[in-house]
Amino acid sequence: MSRRLPIVAVDGPAGSGKTTVSRLVAQRLGYVVLDTGALYRTLALATSRAGLDPGRDELGAFCEQLIARNAIVLEPGSEGSSRVLLDGEDVSHAIRTPEMSARASVISALPPVRQALLELQRQMGEGGGVVVEGRDIGSVVFPDAEAKFFLTASLERRAERRFLELTGRTEPPSLGNVLDQVAERDRRDSERAVAPLVQAAGAELLDSTDLGIDEVVERIVRAVRRIEARLQSGAAS
Ligand code: DC
Repeated sequence: MSRRLPIVAVDGPAGSGKTTVSRLVAQRLGYVVLDTGALYRTLALATSRAGLDPGRDELGAFCEQLIARNAIVLEPGSEGSSRVLLDGEDVSHAIRTPEMSARASVISALPPVRQALLELQRQMGEGGGVVVEGRDIGSVVFPDAEAKFFLTASLERRAERRFLELTGRTEPPSLGNVLDQVAERDRRDSERAVAPLVQAAGAELLDSTDLGIDEVVERIVRAVRRIEARLQSGAAS
């Protein structure tokens, strides 16, 4: 498909800085952000509320039905963030707990769940002018994305970031606990059979262990502007 503005795919493991980087890049470029992790997290919340364990056969059909009746809506929020609505209820905070992180990682390994979200993600992003963050965006959801990046950082640095995000909560976990949870999520997200976390072909690797977030953002913005210029000149010729 030929687009006037590119799709920017930003994949990477938990705590790699995808969300912060995607928001800042989108703000600089005037793009919207599609946080695909929020979609998996919302399915995690909905299935948990419905008392559906990940092992239950009905879970896939339940997710398909939610999506078919447009129960999940992503809306642009303040400062490039997105608000997530489930049947009209704002669940943006409820989906960010450590329990929902773990549950999203577990149910995202189930093929019917991935299949149910695949078309929705494509519809939301295919027009371009969008930064799409996730695990399989450059490899499976938009293999034809014009710009692909794979963000990473050491396990210790990523766990530290997640730990800082969780301080201020009523019962903050210890740093060691967060590190174990992030390592477990890395393992599950990378080892699953369907659409595992991988650096997609053609994706530029950006390691933010020692690189500041501003530098990562700058590199992505510069690369995308070059691609925009190429698309515009292609459209004009
Ligand atoms: O990016 P996040 O931490 O909000 O994602 C939560 C979980 O959702 C993650 O552990 C794996 C899953 N996920 C996925 O499998 N594919 C995506 N494109 C995005 C998220």
